[in-house]
Amino acid sequence: MCGIVGYLGEKDSKQILLDGLKELEYRGYDSAGITILQNGNFSIYKSVGKLHNLIEKSRDFKVDGFSVGIGHTRWATHGKPTETNAHPHTGEMVHVVHNGIIENYQELKKELLEKGYSFYSQTDTEVIVHLFEENSKYCKSYLESFQKTISQLHGAYALLLLNRDESNRIYFAKEGSPLIIGTDTETGEQFFASSDAPLIGYVDSVIYLQDGEWGYVEQGKIYLYDKDGKEVEPKFSPLSKDRASAQKDGYRYFMEKEIYEQSQVISDTLMGRVVDSGIEFDEIEPSLFDGIDEVKLCGCGTSYHTALASMYLFERIAKIRVSVEFGSEFRYREPLLTKNILFIPISQSGETADTLASLKMAKEAGLKTLAVCNVDNSSIVRLSDKAILTRAGIEKGVASTKAFATQMVVLYMLALYIAQIRNNISQEELDNHLHILREIPNATIVQPRLHEKIKRLSKRYLHGHGFFFIGRDIFYPLALEGALKLKEISYLHAEGYPAGEMKHGPIALADPELFTIALLPENVLYEKTKSNIEELGARDSTICVISPKPFELADDFIQTSHHKHYILEFFEMMVVVQLLSMEVAIRLGNDVDMPRNLAKSVTVE
Ligand code: M6R
Repeated sequence: MCGIVGYLGEKDSKQILLDGLKELEYRGYDSAGITILQNGNFSIYKSVGKLHNLIEKSRDFKVDGFSVGIGHTRWATHGKPTETNAHPHTGEMVHVVHNGIIENYQELKKELLEKGYSFYSQTDTEVIVHLFEENSKYCKSYLESFQKTISQLHGAYALLLLNRDESNRIYFAKEGSPLIIGTDTETGEQFFASSDAPLIGYVDSVIYLQDGEWGYVEQGKIYLYDKDGKEVEPKFSPLSKDRASAQKDGYRYFMEKEIYEQSQVISDTLMGRVVDSGIEFDEIEPSLFDGIDEVKLCGCGTSYHTALASMYLFERIAKIRVSVEFGSEFRYREPLLTKNILFIPISQSGETADTLASLKMAKEAGLKTLAVCNVDNSSIVRLSDKAILTRAGIEKGVASTKAFATQMVVLYMLALYIAQIRNNISQEELDNHLHILREIPNATIVQPRLHEKIKRLSKRYLHGHGFFFIGRDIFYPLALEGALKLKEISYLHAEGYPAGEMKHGPIALADPELFTIALLPENVLYEKTKSNIEELGARDSTICVISPKPFELADDFIQTSHHKHYILEFFEMMVVVQLLSMEVAIRLGNDVDMPRNLAKSVTVE
């Protein structure tokens, strides 16, 4: 999804902006651009495709001395990915970069066209440029025209604006899309970014802007205002300068590194929460669950799969009613919301537009809310009453892996926590689960033998007319997740299905070119799942079985370890399906970390 960077200071602003955009690449984009303003002169470079095109285009441009600059990676929403549609958008006197969607841009554009302004792009962003220019004709100061401009915008935005007449200043505004200001307190340099990553290593403190906040920065100074134009005191948070965690560390792809990191980040997620005889969360009090008899889990994509898998655990362990919602469906279907429901939005980024909008709806209906999220200070965390962080660290691969793993661990712990405070679980049972939790880091260590086997096997799965990932019980959401991983990065058609449902329709597709990836754990519904796999085998589907127990009828077999409990099998099989998707995609020559058409953080609906 779109990314924003900005810089004000004495250093090489071109390099800083390009480096910042590089850090945002993983979010997905189809064009990019930068503008630098020095002494009333704009230098602008835009290009379609990957960043190296922009780097190439701006190669001969050198910045000397103080400058202000803005940059953007665009993921097309209004208008095709062309150079004209790429940001910054420009007018006579201002250049603008913008994330989000201006919902009333058609009306604004009509008015501006009537006033004689020309539009070059098909984007909603360009109205901001001309609106500012128009307002500047009548307002007493540029600050006032900026305030007036943003007050006329409806929708979501994070935006930066440069004005030719003010070469020492960057204007900013935030409503519904993330925007952070970073400051190097020693030098007075100011930075902007739509997420932490480009700021790490450059600044020591940041301001996470709140919705409705706007203002401008100059060297060493930040002027911040609220919706009503009242000056507000900036709230600084420290930011670590450690960049190491953001690099690939010798792995071929971030996705691979992140799969290998799962064992460690799961340990981090458990730390201080799995204690001697129970579960503790510093973030919540048992009273959060007073009066609650239903839990509503909501997410999109992989986070939706976490929700679905957690449903099995919540009902089984916590004995509480659960409903599971896609953010994009929930927000428009007039759901019946009563105050006995605890609303749990699940999100890696904490910025997913549909999950965020669903959370807002739940809050408006007066529900208690508890976020499960990987990014502190993200919109979803800030809006929820309480939040439990998943501690996965920065996840760069668009295909989510370690975020899913840590979400699953948090929700498993939460199910146990509820069972524990409601006395729905015996100490013996609880101890057993605590033991399983402590074993998960081991179950998710990538075994070289297993990885090698999957790597070799992947060459047999590069064609065919489709994949079915099948499983039962909690292995059904895992099958959905396996299929999503494969289609995201290999671009092969894949579906997840409950193994028992195949005979109700999909089995009609069975033939040797239909690949079935069957999840066959030994500790839950083994015989039932086995029969379902045999039914497919009898129709000549090509079958790859993932199981601890040998399966003679399988065409391919990936042997997992024997575990005492199905939850441990779940986590090991999770690693297997992630690796399988990745190896298939690598063999197909795809960009595993930045698959086509996808974005890491989906901040538009
Ligand atoms: O940041 P979120 O967890 O809210 O994101 C939700 C989905 O967009 C995300 O999980 C997406 O499906 C991933 N690309 C899956 O790998």
